[in-house]
Amino acid sequence: MKEEWVRSTVRDIPLYYNPKVQAVRMDTSTNVLGTNPSAREVLARSADLDLNQYPTPYSDGLRQALAQRYGLHEDNFVVGNGSDEALDIIFKSFMEPGETVVAPYPSYVLHGFFVKINGGRFVTVDLRPGFQLDADAMLAAKGKLIILCTPNNPTANTFDHADVERLVQEHDGPVVVDEAYGEYADRSFLPRVEEFDNLIVTRTFSKAYGLAGMRVGYMASNLKMAGIMQRIKIPYSLNQVSERAAIAALKDTTYVDMAVDLVRRERERLSQGLESLGFKTYPSQSNFILFKSPHPSGELVKRLAEKGVLVRNFGGLRMLENCLRTTIGTRELNDLLLSKLGEVMREW
Ligand SMILES: Cc1ncc(COP(=O)(O)O)c(C=O)c1O
Repeated sequence: MKEEWVRSTVRDIPLYYNPKVQAVRMDTSTNVLGTNPSAREVLARSADLDLNQYPTPYSDGLRQALAQRYGLHEDNFVVGNGSDEALDIIFKSFMEPGETVVAPYPSYVLHGFFVKINGGRFVTVDLRPGFQLDADAMLAAKGKLIILCTPNNPTANTFDHADVERLVQEHDGPVVVDEAYGEYADRSFLPRVEEFDNLIVTRTFSKAYGLAGMRVGYMASNLKMAGIMQRIKIPYSLNQVSERAAIAALKDTTYVDMAVDLVRRERERLSQGLESLGFKTYPSQSNFILFKSPHPSGELVKRLAEKGVLVRNFGGLRMLENCLRTTIGTRELNDLLLSKLGEVMREW
């Protein structure tokens, strides 16, 4: 194979994060309460599914359930195989090859991935101190689209609501607000999608709903934009089993409330525990915490993994030198993390 056979815009794309270690996973910011019980129950009763038939091309059942939940129309929603698929659809729908997408830095690494695989230019604007948006610079960059996630991954804080609103109001093009961790935050833009002609909000069942393994995500926008994105999406991209699990999970508000409550209770305790071991922690409005190590973070992750707990290293990124991210666990998981981290620090 010749190097030039590969599309020039994707030649330098590396494989995604794929750790091979056997350890307790506190590196993925998923739901530590385990599989959503309502989804598990529905899956156990799914022997009647006609799997010889296709699902509906646009997951109508789930879109109807979402419409009911959020007081919108089902055609405001586009459902995908994880919110990652939703992000991909957005760029396929609105970005010409070579056009620019503006995003804050540091933020979710796959935003740039989806821009690049769709032939776009990814331009970042550094967050200000306190990891807040530089809305002036983001608008001045004059991209075709703007994308951001709030709460922001990996910094864990939410962006100032007024800054996000200003971007939506003043940018002449689509603005994507990725709310993958929206259930943990106080405010959401999702109910407001009909107010704006350019707002797209993405959401997922992978975090608070406890269904990362089923790969279900969705986005909402005004009817015109959603209609375009629906046409671009690969039909049938969400399988029937996942759709059924997601509908059950959506109706079970108790589990999500429990997950959010747990995070609220444990967040402060875990932060304090990390501080008392000598780490600097950053404020979180999500189900994970960013913290800074006094030692090289790559080596720290390795030594901690050898003791059976995996957190994610972000220390190689500019502005995040020696920073790590951990999921906020159950009380027991957090105690395990703190005790193993304590051992690592003492042995250093
Ligand atoms: C900010 C953000 N957006 C999107 C995703 C993707 O979620 P999904 O599992 O729905 O593809 C993640 C997953 O970690 C994320 O952190």
